[in-house]
Amino acid sequence: MYSEGIFGAPSPKSGPKVVWRWVLLCMVLGTTGALVICGFLAGLGNYVMRQQNPSLMMEAEFVPEAQVIDSQKIRLCQGKRIYIYDLPRQFNLDILDGYCENEPVICPRFMNSGLGFELHHVMDPIETWYRTDQFSMDILFHERIRKYPCLTEDPDSADLYYAPYYVGWDVLEYLWRPEIQLRDKMMQRFIGWMMAQPSFNRLQGHKHLLVLGRIVWDFDRKEETSRWGNSLLSAPELENVTAVMLERNPSINPEKEMAVPYPTAFHPRSDWELMLWKKKVATSPRNGSLVSLAATPRRDKTKGSVMYYFLRDTLFDQCNKSEVCTVLMCDQINCESNPHLVTSLLLQSTFCLQPPGDSPTRKGVFDCLVAGTIPVFFTPLSAHQQYLWHLPPNGNSYSVLFDEVEVRDNGFDVIAALKEIPASRIERMQRTIVEDILPAVVYDHPDRDPEKKSRDAIDRILDHLFSRDHQTREDKDSANKSNRYMEIPETAVYPMITVGNNSGLGRHHVIVQAAHQAVIIVL
Ligand SMILES: *[C@@H]1O[C@H](CO)[C@@H](O)[C@H](O)[C@H]1NC(C)=O
Ligand SMILES: *[C@@H]1O[C@H](CO)[C@@H](O)[C@H](O)[C@H]1NC(C)=O
Ligand SMILES: *[C@@H]1O[C@H](CO)[C@@H](O)[C@H](O)[C@H]1NC(C)=O
Ligand SMILES: *[C@@H]1O[C@H](CO)[C@@H](O)[C@H](O)[C@H]1NC(C)=O
Ligand SMILES: *[C@@H]1O[C@H](CO)[C@@H](O)[C@H](O)[C@H]1NC(C)=O
Repeated sequence: MYSEGIFGAPSPKSGPKVVWRWVLLCMVLGTTGALVICGFLAGLGNYVMRQQNPSLMMEAEFVPEAQVIDSQKIRLCQGKRIYIYDLPRQFNLDILDGYCENEPVICPRFMNSGLGFELHHVMDPIETWYRTDQFSMDILFHERIRKYPCLTEDPDSADLYYAPYYVGWDVLEYLWRPEIQLRDKMMQRFIGWMMAQPSFNRLQGHKHLLVLGRIVWDFDRKEETSRWGNSLLSAPELENVTAVMLERNPSINPEKEMAVPYPTAFHPRSDWELMLWKKKVATSPRNGSLVSLAATPRRDKTKGSVMYYFLRDTLFDQCNKSEVCTVLMCDQINCESNPHLVTSLLLQSTFCLQPPGDSPTRKGVFDCLVAGTIPVFFTPLSAHQQYLWHLPPNGNSYSVLFDEVEVRDNGFDVIAALKEIPASRIERMQRTIVEDILPAVVYDHPDRDPEKKSRDAIDRILDHLFSRDHQTREDKDSANKSNRYMEIPETAVYPMITVGNNSGLGRHHVIVQAAHQAVIIVL
């Protein structure tokens, strides 16, 4: 049994129609006796048809019209069929309902299939802007996959298995609460439910996908060493499951954990809407200020990623003092609720500073790229070692990387260095961003035009999951150990990268050593 009728047997309609004529005749006659006789005749007719015309009657008789499909679609779906587990509501909708009952501020973020509140008419193209929560991936992904054209209801024949557990929203409820058991409660039930699924057991978790709408550290608690997050990613039962999330731990095999773009406010439905935006981005005069910084200052240095917080201060300071840099204080204007204000600033700037916040990645990187602005990084952990499926392998083709320690501790002047970058390189980076990156990092509207050709962030996730061979752990272990995903772009402004101790309380500690080799230690 399949949905959308795509996989029904391509049997011609004429055979069954001939047989049905007998049955219709019986209905006209109307009496029980006639039904018996005609039933026999219909059966006989069927038999005769089969004998005389085997090809006509091949495969399933009486295939409903909707399931008669063209071979083109079968070809299209070859190797790309997705099975969605029919999870009990407690793993998704009940979690959202819980917020809507208890947290009226959070509930509107679930509107419009996870896009959030509509912001129509704040910017052209007018119907593409939403107040999207940066952690809405759980819902956005599910809503898109529900409309995916190659779904199958047969758990024996899928190429990818997706379990729509809204684990990001689940863990958020308990992140700041001390009871560790509460944080793992739903997760353990989920594992129990999966273990009871024959397809999960048969495949030993391979080909299975989990979408975690937050960063890796929220799901990676090692009981004895950390007090943060649930322990989903440490569960041995899920060792072969692939998880996508907003920030990854680069020391984990990217076949198992991959970072995907943070959702932004822009959600095109069609190639036309995307093209209008690209045109606006490409022709924006960008004469407002060379550099912009939209961020929330971290004033409380007693907890969190202290080294990152000092870096942020330094950049606010440099930007404040410069005539070619504009600051947007996100604690004053609420940048997430007013994405058009951030985007307007970005459209007038050539570069945007992307200092890490509580962790190395931030949504601002994607606001910046969607506005065609060149991101300036201070650690390769912010993007270069994260979004391997969505950003070009050469970080210098679309971004600038400065050394965090030089900036924070040695007075390196970021704005002066940016002024030195030749116009030709700026133009090349801008073209790469608008043509290659922007279309690939946006999340299309779930009701997008089926004819849309440009492939968005979710299309690219699926492309990667389908294209790779689902190799086993043994294969991986014997494979060439060289970690291509850990290489630091060779022409970075500073080849020597040292990311300071992320020496906050309780969270992860990030220690990166030596050029060309990054090591993350989760303490
Ligand atoms: C993961 O896959 C490997 C090899 O495919 C298998 O040996 C192992 O038992 C699997 N793990 C689980 C938890 O099923
Ligand atoms: C930027 O350029 C546009 C058009 O070229 C012009 O209308 C606008 O006033 C300029 N803005 C600034 C701040 O110079
Ligand atoms: C930057 O300037 C603004 C306004 O002048 C001020 O409110 C803010 O505290 C300054 N930030 C830093 C880090 O100096
Ligand atoms: C592993 O890959 C690297 C780079 O791709 C190559 O230089 C090296 O020779 C390979 N090693 C083996 C054992 O195949
Ligand atoms: C990191 O922390 C260690 C020990 O806490 C300290 O010795 C070292 O100097 C720190 N490194 C940096 C770059 O702050």
